Amino acid sequence: MTEVNKEFWQVILDRRSIRKYEDKPISEEDIRTIMESARQAPSGENAQPWRFIIVKDQESKDFLSYVGKGGSGRRFTGEYLSKHMQSRFEALEDEEKKRKAYKKLTSGNVSAFVNQAYMDILVLGKKEVWDAPFDTSGAIENMLLTVTSLGLGACWLVAPTIDIRDELRMKKYFEIPEEYKLYAIIAVGVPGEVKNPRPRIPLKELVYSEKFGEEYYKE
Ligand SMILES: Cc1cc2nc3c(=O)[nH]c(=O)nc-3n(C[C@H](O)[C@H](O)[C@H](O)COP(=O)(O)O)c2cc1C
Repeated sequence: MTEVNKEFWQVILDRRSIRKYEDKPISEEDIRTIMESARQAPSGENAQPWRFIIVKDQESKDFLSYVGKGGSGRRFTGEYLSKHMQSRFEALEDEEKKRKAYKKLTSGNVSAFVNQAYMDILVLGKKEVWDAPFDTSGAIENMLLTVTSLGLGACWLVAPTIDIRDELRMKKYFEIPEEYKLYAIIAVGVPGEVKNPRPRIPLKELVYSEKFGEEYYKE
């Protein structure tokens, strides 16, 4: 691999989904840096269709946690009943760990942590802009990397916004106009856990040469 700027590369490697936070604030300067990194992201036709709501109020974060828990619970219960979840955890041999994972997912507890974060950033996109899902994703990744470089932690959540009924409840609560879609919630705070990297598929299986299926890398 080419020599890359070490600090930049370290930020890429260090970024992990953080779901436990310390009860500590984030400075306004850091928040502004995070939001500025979102603003600098690329967007189709430079449409910049994103809007962000920073939620720090505990009651509002509890509301997000409550709605997220219900939405995730329904989604993962569906995955369990359709056996999708079981195939996802096929490689895990420890039956007790598997059982705990199923419970955490199907109960929705997996998404309840957003009320522990110092703030939740609601990521909205203009519905009329075709590229909005991609544009907002670019802005989110910029934010996650900036968060990491500041020594903070974050998690990108989509499960709580997938169900249209939950999206509508959140839109009403946060007074989001009809012409915007709520794409994601980004929980941000001072990390309360150290995460091991989750497994990644080897490049050999991801990258093809000229045609689909022809390995670009032999190892
Ligand atoms: C589009 C998208 C949606 C995600 N939704 C959720 C979510 O709803 N809840 C959650 O806890 N994590 C969510 N994540 C985080 C992933 O679970 C995580 O990125 C993945 O397991 C890899 O782990 P890592 O981020 O620590 O490298 C999401 C990530 C992405 C990119």
